[in-house]
Amino acid sequence: MLEVEGIHTFYGLSHILFGVSLRVELGEIVCLLGRNGAGKTTTMKSIMGLTPPRQGNIRFKGEETTGMEPYLLARKGIGYVPDDRRIFADLTVGENLEIAARSSEPFDYAQDKTGFAQWDEERVYELFPALKEIESRKGGCLSGGEQKMLAIARALMGNPELLLLDEPTEGLAPMLVRALEEQIKKLRETGLTVLLAEQNVRSALRLGDRGYIIDNGQIRYQGSIEELRENEEVRKKYLLV
Ligand SMILES: Nc1ncnc2c1ncn2[C@@H]1O[C@H](COP(=O)(O)OP(=O)(O)OP(=O)(O)O)[C@@H](O)[C@H]1O
Ligand SMILES: [Mg+2]
Repeated sequence: MLEVEGIHTFYGLSHILFGVSLRVELGEIVCLLGRNGAGKTTTMKSIMGLTPPRQGNIRFKGEETTGMEPYLLARKGIGYVPDDRRIFADLTVGENLEIAARSSEPFDYAQDKTGFAQWDEERVYELFPALKEIESRKGGCLSGGEQKMLAIARALMGNPELLLLDEPTEGLAPMLVRALEEQIKKLRETGLTVLLAEQNVRSALRLGDRGYIIDNGQIRYQGSIEELRENEEVRKKYLLV
């Protein structure tokens, strides 16, 4: 579904990503793990067209998308939940969801194993009942956990086929982390494909099918989650756990 091949990304003159390659297959949860400043967010932004790579290729569903504008990528079915969430503070939860609704391009919903046609507010509230309860609260008055849920819910309203999640569990209390993990698992059951950037290795080990480790802008390790769980050496070297 997503192929990233040898991308080099810069911020101005700073060379950040050095030939990053990764693949995400339909229906997988793939974790991109790495310490602070390793290049996770830059990889996500490169895929989403926010910091287009200067070299290398990105393909989504077989189509070359390198350098495409973010709004076009969203229309093609990539949902992005940035680490800073960007909730509209003056709008209510319901309004935040409403303005994110997208009537998607023709898309084969036969893939959606639940048989639901599209995401709408009702279906989003089913996944996140806590959001329903605060439907009329302003975005600016939400707790960290509520903002995280809303950011994911908002991305779902765009009916993505691939969801890029940048550190969804960061700063959440352990109980909320577990709840969010369950919700992400439910998303996988609907057939959604997920690329998850995480520093929280435990969470990634519970959720992911496969994992990559990025360090200093280079992929240092790739393998199944089982392999990563057993490979303490690699985890100690790049992740300090
Ligand atoms: N806007 C920017 N301008 C210049 N350098 C940047 C910018 N954003 C990030 N960087 C640098 O790029 C490198 C990779 O940062 P990135 O945000 O991709 O890491 P990350 O893995 O997401 O880290 P974190 O876990 O802290 O979110 C870091 O060295 C960072 O200082
Ligand atoms: Mg980051």
